[in-house]
Amino acid sequence: MKIKINNLTIVTSSGLFRKNLFIDKGIIKKISDKPISSRGVDFLIDNENLMVFPGFLDMHVHLREPGFEYKEDIESGQRAALSGGFTAIACMANTNPVNDNSAVTHYIKCKSNETGIPVDVHPIAAITVGLKGEKIVEMGDLKKAGAVGFSDDGYPVENSDILRKAMEYSKCFNIPIICHSEEKKLSKEGQINEGEVSLKLGLKGIPKEAEIIGIYRDIMLAKLTKAKVHIAHVSTKDSVELIRRAKKEGINISCETCPQYFLLTEEEVLGYNTFAKVNPPLRTKEDVMAIREGLKDGTIDVIASDHAPHHIDEKDGEFELAPFGMIGLQTMIPLSLELVRLGVLDFQVLAEKLSRKPHQILGLKPPVIKEGEEACLTIIDPHYEWVLEKDRIRSKSYNTPFLGKKMKGKAVYTIKGGKVFEIED
Ligand code: DOR
Repeated sequence: MKIKINNLTIVTSSGLFRKNLFIDKGIIKKISDKPISSRGVDFLIDNENLMVFPGFLDMHVHLREPGFEYKEDIESGQRAALSGGFTAIACMANTNPVNDNSAVTHYIKCKSNETGIPVDVHPIAAITVGLKGEKIVEMGDLKKAGAVGFSDDGYPVENSDILRKAMEYSKCFNIPIICHSEEKKLSKEGQINEGEVSLKLGLKGIPKEAEIIGIYRDIMLAKLTKAKVHIAHVSTKDSVELIRRAKKEGINISCETCPQYFLLTEEEVLGYNTFAKVNPPLRTKEDVMAIREGLKDGTIDVIASDHAPHHIDEKDGEFELAPFGMIGLQTMIPLSLELVRLGVLDFQVLAEKLSRKPHQILGLKPPVIKEGEEACLTIIDPHYEWVLEKDRIRSKSYNTPFLGKKMKGKAVYTIKGGKVFEIED
């Protein structure tokens, strides 16, 4: 297929350029200043409002299959990812059975390839068998089957000796350990951030220290083992400061945050809004500002969604019984663009956090917009305004506090494997 892209803004690592692209058989054949003739072209994109990014990767997604297909399955998750503008996602291990053995990893790889949906699915395997924090998985087998990272996400590995050994073992495979950093003894039974709102609602709070202590421990273990360690869903001011200092010290650590932590505060749960119940919980304005600062100064490497679908019957009940989590794949682009509009990031840095960094952390080749490179692209309209209505959601679940909210910015095409995929409105 011959694809021509004229008059679009191209976001590369060396800057933003208005250029024209010619793609043939999946390869970027030409990047030129002059529009390319449309003769013999199978698909033409010509719209000066659009921007071309290297393909986006969401490195923190819960697909729920196998085991919880009523919340999400691999296919619906891929559809939501495509609609959100992703060319790849990485999925967490808290399925049933848990992705703690090569058969499950293999299943996820095969199933996601069979759907034909152009979103690569990279499984993240568990650190410990059954996410129980006791016995380390067979990392070699899992890597061979396609695992790109190890995480007990949802559950911290409480035993520091086991986590230390897992980190040491992971070095043989050059695969990151992704830490859900939380001191469970402090957070237990907590529902939302501990503070004014938890007092007002009479809900048990989760103190920020539960995350901060968890992160401190995980940083110290990263320092001790020199393993490649990535901290998931950072949500507090002090967490950012700890990671900033660790990086300055030269510790091999990376981290991510999610749109809910740079846009929302604990007030979102007022009225017992279970769609805003997440772990880690939404924090305070001060934390939101510190997360933005961490994104700006490079302390926070990646923006990921922590897409966590849950069925309405589970969310629509008593607050204490509702599971933690919100979906996020389809809102990642408009919500991340908010950072550009607020002056926190520019488009180039946004591309780093949505494409280059997550690929690098997971040991995958980052897509590059350069002649001779494979065309793996996300094309967005940053100005497009739309409303997140239920019928736009491609996920099986619609648990998001952004439901019914106005969004600005949307993916309109992805290009992958030599084909163009038009994203429905
Ligand atoms: O809110 C969350 N939901 N946080 C996690 O760590 C796990 C996730 C889930 O699996 O639902």
